Amino acid sequence: MSAVRPGMVDVVRVHPSTLGGSVAVPGDKSLSHRALLLGTLVGEAVEVSGLADSGDVQATAAALRLMGAQVDLEVRDGDVAGTVCGGLREPDDVIDCGNSGTSLRLLAGVAAGIDGVSVLTGDGSLRGRPVDRVRDPLQAMGARLTARGGRLPPLVVEGGALRPVEWHSPVASAQVKSCVLLAGLRASGTTTVVSPAPSRDHTERMLGHLGQPVERTVDAAAETVRLTPTGMIPAPVRVARDPSSAAFWLVAAAIGEQPITTPGVCVNPGRVGFVDVLESMGATVASGDLREDSGEPVADLTVNPGNLRGAQVSGAAVVAALDELPVLSLAGLRSDTGLEVLDAQELRVKESDRIRTLVAALGALGVEIEERPDGYRVPGGQTPQGGVVHAHGDHRIAMTAAIAATISTGPVEITGFASVASSYPTFLDDLRALGGRVEVVAHT
Ligand code: S3P
Repeated sequence: MSAVRPGMVDVVRVHPSTLGGSVAVPGDKSLSHRALLLGTLVGEAVEVSGLADSGDVQATAAALRLMGAQVDLEVRDGDVAGTVCGGLREPDDVIDCGNSGTSLRLLAGVAAGIDGVSVLTGDGSLRGRPVDRVRDPLQAMGARLTARGGRLPPLVVEGGALRPVEWHSPVASAQVKSCVLLAGLRASGTTTVVSPAPSRDHTERMLGHLGQPVERTVDAAAETVRLTPTGMIPAPVRVARDPSSAAFWLVAAAIGEQPITTPGVCVNPGRVGFVDVLESMGATVASGDLREDSGEPVADLTVNPGNLRGAQVSGAAVVAALDELPVLSLAGLRSDTGLEVLDAQELRVKESDRIRTLVAALGALGVEIEERPDGYRVPGGQTPQGGVVHAHGDHRIAMTAAIAATISTGPVEITGFASVASSYPTFLDDLRALGGRVEVVAHT
């Protein structure tokens, strides 16, 4: 189950261009995974809508089918909708999570509660990403797990009866927290996860929406979540649009010449840390029509061009802006004094080593950027030149390069662009619709 298939656009040349307008980005990836996983665990049919039609979400859907769930989905107006219904059992084949770390980590928590053996693997990138962070708590709950070399996929999960745990996670990871909560749904008693900083609370909110309360407290030292299984009810789940996808256009507006609006975006505080960073840099961000959908805050976001000042991102602010730190580098290089990112060593275990691949990508465009063990520093007052960027199989690096191209002095050729299918398959259509100039050079 790889998002990259023969015939997809894989090498593109993006020309300098002025972007502006409004764009409805795909459904949120994190929420789409959770709608499928939690919907399946309700035990009765659950209606889901607004899901992303992306490779990562398809990987979760395929995995749940292999585990015996009925997942009936169709594409309606570009978004995925349908019903999911559980009844999970031991899968009769290996589960291929493709490029999707969220699928693998969250499915491990589900597999831990199923009698039998589940084998979870993925593409070359995913097989290089650590799973000991979920192996350890699930083992403490009574499941048996084996990973390649002790810490990498394939991950073999022998599930069954689980006991509750109080798990102190060394990393502030929503994937780890959610994995343990999913397993906790099958344990008898209260499962607790303590993390060193708050991370996105989509699982907690969606469980609440489905009638299963989760207690969450956040203080300066820790985030603590507690779940005592009481059962879920089949409420429809509507997924809001993805702020991590919207971030590409909102940063493009902040460094460009025209405003850009992204309607209907999830504005969960654990996700819009990049908006806080843009505002701290002096960008004007307008948030309109704030509403709530399926337990999540939703709004229309508009960013206006303006003069940006330098900033530093560190500590808890890093977790809330984690997936957007690559594209925020572009706001940094257009600011007066630049952007410094600290405490972001987690970037090294994403779809690529995002500190290294970002530094290589911007370096290929003549940008001065310093690699740090836990982040980067990009001086301000710079303009990228044209050049050739390799995405290294990482969708967010590919899309960051495309936005860099819009403000460059010459065209940017991006190879490995097919990787964007894991989160944002319609990115090039939206880039064109906003005024971008794109030449397709090659297909996979
Ligand atoms: C995600 C959590 C984050 C994020 C990833 C999606 C999720 O990972 O980087 O893209 O849906 O829970 P970590 O929680 O492991 O940092």
